[in-house]
This record gives sequence, C-alpha cells and structure tokens, in this order.
Amino acid sequence: MCGIVGYVGDRLGVPIALKCLSALEYRGYDSAGVAYIDNGKIYTEKRVGKLVNLYNSLKNKIIPSSCAIGHTRWATHGEPNKNNAHPQTDCNGILAVVHNGIIENFDSIKQDLIAKGVKFNSDTDTEVFAQLLAYNLCAKLMHNTMHNTAHNTIKFSKKTIIKALNKTIQQCEGAYAVAIVVAGIDDCIFFAKNKSPLIIGKGEEESYLASDTPALLGFANKFYSIKDGELGYIEKNKIVVFNDNLENVKIKFQQITIKTEQVMLGEFKHFMHKEIEQGASSIIETIDRIKKLKVLQKIPPKIFEDKFNLHITACGTALHAGLIAKYIIENQLRVPVDLDYASEFRYKKPILDAHSVCLFISQSGETADTLSCVELAKQKGATTIAFTNVPASRMESIVDFVVPTGAGPEIAVASTKAYLAQLAALYAFIEYLAIILKKEIKFNCGMIKNLALKYSHQDYTKVLDDIVEEIKNEESIYFIGRGVDYLLALEGALKLKEISYIHCEALPAGELKHGSLALINNNSFVVAVLTQSNLIEKTLNNIHELNSRGAKVILISPFTNLENFVYKQIYIPNVNDLLTPFVAMKPLQTLAYKVSISKNLDPDKPRNLAKSVTVE
Ligand code: F6R
Repeated sequence: MCGIVGYVGDRLGVPIALKCLSALEYRGYDSAGVAYIDNGKIYTEKRVGKLVNLYNSLKNKIIPSSCAIGHTRWATHGEPNKNNAHPQTDCNGILAVVHNGIIENFDSIKQDLIAKGVKFNSDTDTEVFAQLLAYNLCAKLMHNTMHNTAHNTIKFSKKTIIKALNKTIQQCEGAYAVAIVVAGIDDCIFFAKNKSPLIIGKGEEESYLASDTPALLGFANKFYSIKDGELGYIEKNKIVVFNDNLENVKIKFQQITIKTEQVMLGEFKHFMHKEIEQGASSIIETIDRIKKLKVLQKIPPKIFEDKFNLHITACGTALHAGLIAKYIIENQLRVPVDLDYASEFRYKKPILDAHSVCLFISQSGETADTLSCVELAKQKGATTIAFTNVPASRMESIVDFVVPTGAGPEIAVASTKAYLAQLAALYAFIEYLAIILKKEIKFNCGMIKNLALKYSHQDYTKVLDDIVEEIKNEESIYFIGRGVDYLLALEGALKLKEISYIHCEALPAGELKHGSLALINNNSFVVAVLTQSNLIEKTLNNIHELNSRGAKVILISPFTNLENFVYKQIYIPNVNDLLTPFVAMKPLQTLAYKVSISKNLDPDKPRNLAKSVTVE
C-alpha cells in the first residue's frame, strides 16, 4: 500500500507534498517522510506514526526547495520505525526514493550489494532499491574512471540516471511505484512504475506525481496514469516518459475535475460518517452517470450469446456487493454465476475461455489481487468488465469495458458509499443483461433511484445509541440472515469488525445449529437481518433458537409484529425484496461507525488496514 507524491514547480515543494500526502494517508499511516533538494543537496525529514507528526516537525520551517517527494507508509518490510520510514537513501547520499509496492527479490539483491561493500541502514526493500540504483549509477561512473570524486558531489546527466534506473528496474522483481530525487539535479523527479499505481498530474508551471488522482485535487487538473514498465522524469514544464526499451512514449492527458468539498469533512467529524450519509447520492449519481455515458451499451450483446459463462471477482466489501449481484442474476435471470475472492481465483486454475465474461469490482481499481485476476482473464481470452470508482485507475486502463461507479472520492478506509454505488452499477448491469437475454426482472434503475431519493434522510444515529453502549465492550458479535440477508450480514459484520476491533462473524441463519450455536450464551449479542418477506418464518425460527440460549437479538427489519421476539428492533423501510440492500445497509454501517467512535477509535483509519491494497 503506501502513498507517494512528488512536486516540482515554482512554489515551496514541502508544504505542497504534505498537503497532497494528507489525501493519501488512507493508504498507510505507520510513518511519513519527505525528501527535498536544496542547492543540489538532498535532505530528508521522517516521523513515525501519522502524518500530523511529520507536519508538526516541519510547520515552523521554511524550506526553500521547489522539488520534493513524500511518502506515507503501510509497513511491509521492517517495523514502523524511523529507520524504515521513507524516503530511503543510498549510503552516499546520492539519491532518495519513496516507494509503494514490494521488491520481491530484495534479499538476494541486498546480499549481493553487502558483499560488494554497501552498508545498509534499514530493513526495507525500498532501501535495497535506492542502494541498487546508486550502485548502478556509480558503477557506470567507475567505469568512466571518475571514482576519485566524492559520489554525492557528482552531477549525473538525466540520460545516465534514466539508464541506471532502467537497469535497476530490470533487476527488481515485484511491484513498485517509485519517485526519486537525485543530488545535483534541483528541479527534476524521476519515476518508474510496475503494478503499483502512479499518476502524473499537470498544473500551471508545475508537475506532480501521486499514487492517485484525488491526492492532487486543487493542484492538477490533467492526469496521466503511468503504465507498467514505464519510467521517466518530471520537471515543471516538461514530462518525459520512456518504455522499457527506453523509447519515448507520447502521453495523452485526461482531464478530471473533482470538487474540493468532495474531499473535505465539512460539517462532519469523520469521513466515514459523511460517506455513510452520501450513500443515497452515490446510488443516484452512479445510475445517472451510467445512463448518461451509455457505458453499458458499449458492451456488445454478442458476448452474452450461446455458451457464455459469468464470473465475478473482487475483495472485501466489493466482493460482498458482487455476492448480491450473483444472487440477483441467478434468482432473476436464471444464469449461473461463479464468484471468487480475487486472492483465491488467481491460484485455483479458473476455468476461463473466450466465452467467459468476467466482472471485476473494485472501488480503487488498484487492488493487487483483483488486478492480477484481470490479467489472468485477459490471457485466457475472456471479456473483462470493471466496476470501479477511481478514474484513471490501473484497472480501468487494462479491462475491455468500464462501468464507473459514481461515489466520488471515498476517504475513510472502511468502504460505505462505494458499496452502494457498486450495487447500483451492478443492478444497472443486470437490467441491461435482462434486456439482452430477453428476460423479465422485477426492478429497474428508475425504481432504485426513487428509493434512494425517498429514503436518503433516514437517520439511525439516535435509535442506535442504547445498543452501541451495550455492545461496545463485547468480544464477539454474530450476524445472521438468510438469502440476501445473509449477504448483508456479511458486510455488516465486516464493517463492525474492521473499525471496532470486535470479532464479528456472519452466518447463514440456518447454519447456526450446525456448530456455531455452541458459542451462544446469555451474554451473546446477535444482529439478525430480515428483509426478505418469504423468509420471515424461517429466520424467526432461528431467532427463537437464539432466544432459548439467552442471546440478545438485535433485529434489522421492516416487518412489524416481530418486536416481541427480539431484544431490540431497528426498523428500515419496507421495499421490494430485491431492492432491500439499498436500504438495509445504512443502519449496519451506522452501527459500526457509532461503536468505533464510542470506543474512542478512529473510524477513518483503522489499525493495520489501508484503503488501497496494492500488495498481494
Ligand atoms: C472494507 C474495505 C475493503 C475493500 C477491499 C477491496 O471496508 O474497504 O474490504 O473493499 O480491500 O478494495 P477495492 O474495492 O478498492 O478493490
């Protein structure tokens, strides 16, 4: 994971790098650091913990440098301490590197460099990259018999640096997006990318690098998503990109407009709260965008002829949205759907061919596991369709068709509004598929929009108050449901566990008695989701089983006359059975949010997690 930025222009670089980094902190917050060049010399400043620690250490300093790189870390190699924080430098202070990704063969390179006398200062694979690049630069230098000169006083040409960088990336295996400053070159940042995201942003008389486009909001308005294997450099008025044969690449910028208020907290204390409240507008915006851009019509109907087979692949919350799509497609269209966690799909030798249509769901469009499945599907000749939320993401650039979700920037690590946007996009796709397959379905996008509009002000913050106080110190909470309700329970449990650190487990209600009921006693809390009218009695039976063991059942349901059978009921709107996911998720998300804040945790930045999981 990790977030990286780079700035070169006429303004002071460090404050800009810090500002851009603040929008990337969701990618990791174990440590943060910047490197800048002043009078040809490289300086670094790093702090352990959140970005605010780095910010406080720099806030009273005026650093006269207009070229800076920055990093916010999610630790992979080496504990989160200052030595392991980025930027990493080589032992001669020739260059500084910020990196997102994993250099898989770092250890063998490191041993090789140690044998050649290179001294290491950290446990990171990034330092290995920095040392190797410096070694490759200097090896060239030695060859040119200039080895008596102190290395950090030599001015390398950009051509020499690019050649050494190309050699370095050929030697490194794995995923990387790197930004590099080199001593002696004041106004230039070098970069290279493979599998981890990296964007070039262009502003007036200034250029940027960043892990994603929202990080450059208010700074750049034209973007280029660097492709795997590309490398080059940015200057304030010049962008140079090469392919791995060191041939010049002509790049085309994409104009993307993001409004400032989309990434500000506004009246809210936390992004997660703001984003839960934006659920309804995400649904509406997604449907409007899909209709306006006619994106579904670009998917040729012929791919759904004859022997087509459908696959859905995603991770986490996106997978939970996919589970609902699978349920509706099978239930309504009677078309079988294979669904897999991306991390499982890629290693199970999936059965794919030219008749396969693979749907990939990803908020970020950068999740490493999902991306590798896209590549696999492409190799097998399958048609690939991505449902993504971040424009210019890597996934968008490699799939055959993109169905954009319109959630706008999602900052909180736990996904909320993007889940609803994914559902809206998937339902729109199902509606389109029904037309192609000439099948009838009992919903349409207009109904979903109306429902989102009608219930957008539904507020669960007050009704959950008592429950939150009661469950916040629990060690374990179970979630149950049947059919679609089980799929909602899965997402409700994921939300609560990831930001409250309470162990939460979702079960199909009917499965309870096949094992897990053994764990239920009179201290247990169980959240039961019941939105499907044909399953009221069945789920109620399971609630009775729980009641008999003393469990306290919190029921999320629109149905009346159930209150007497449960500890507490949270009423949700009563809508078409197929559309309940659009109204049942808000109380589950709100419950998770409220438990997290009642425990004085930071719901936007849960421990050990990052928003974009760009490592396997
Ligand atoms: C949970 C959450 C994660 C993501 C998962 C996939 O709240 O946010 O489970 O859903 O990491 O991320 P994307 O959708 O970016 O591929």
